[in-house]
Amino acid sequence: MSKERPDIPAYPQSGVASTCRSYDEYLTMFDLTEARLREGPVLDAAGGASSFTAELCARGLDARAADPFYAGEREEVIAAAAREIGVSSAKLEANLTHYDWSYYGSPTRHRALREASLAKFAAHFRADAGEDRYAAAGLPRLPYADGTFSLALCSHFLFLYADQFGLDFHAEALRELLRVVRPGGEVRIYPLVSLRWEPYPHLPELLASILPLAEARETAGKLPFVPVASPMLTLTRR
Ligand SMILES: C[S@@+](CC[C@H](N)C(=O)[O-])C[C@H]1O[C@@H](n2cnc3c(N)ncnc32)[C@H](O)[C@@H]1O
Repeated sequence: MSKERPDIPAYPQSGVASTCRSYDEYLTMFDLTEARLREGPVLDAAGGASSFTAELCARGLDARAADPFYAGEREEVIAAAAREIGVSSAKLEANLTHYDWSYYGSPTRHRALREASLAKFAAHFRADAGEDRYAAAGLPRLPYADGTFSLALCSHFLFLYADQFGLDFHAEALRELLRVVRPGGEVRIYPLVSLRWEPYPHLPELLASILPLAEARETAGKLPFVPVASPMLTLTRR
């Protein structure tokens, strides 16, 4: 686990932002191949306005996303995600040198990727009314039967908002994600640092508490960007 960097200012955020990382960002940060994604249904928990679910469905895969954010009127959800691109881009511009731009290339390309991802999400989300691929649901309660998924992902929610969600929430959320994956299935979570860029301090006790349910493994993060490199966590359900 990387060391905390108290010299780097925290990312300024009140509440939880609804961002829209792209399919390629998901493949990179979760170290995924399309073959792995084809092994069974995939859940994007805290999916926000990411195009990940849309892109999986476009490839004929069975994918779903859950986020309390989807509860709003659809056009307002999309508009809120578009506003967040502007807000987050301005925050990044204000502290450019703290970030590692080797993956994105530049702030302009970072923003363009987000806009392209949002456009794909928006088209799929608008068309989804009958299919219910997007569940307005928040951890630690998900509206799926036990063992529904082969893979559940959680990008930039758990551990990142450690200031707003306590240890009990995180423990319940991990148990819930494990409940909805089948035995042998996986939960992958990234990153494991907070918006203060501190490694999640309770991770060892949290992983110890779910040991009867899952084997845990940390691997090096593959998406350089935030000021402190973070591993990815994989939980394999027993
Ligand atoms: C930073 S965004 C990440 C979105 C997407 N996964 C990505 O990587 O771009 C965090 C998301 O967590 C969602 N969220 C907030 N509370 C939640 C909860 N209790 N359970 C699941 N998601 C939640 C927010 O609505 C927001 O869309």
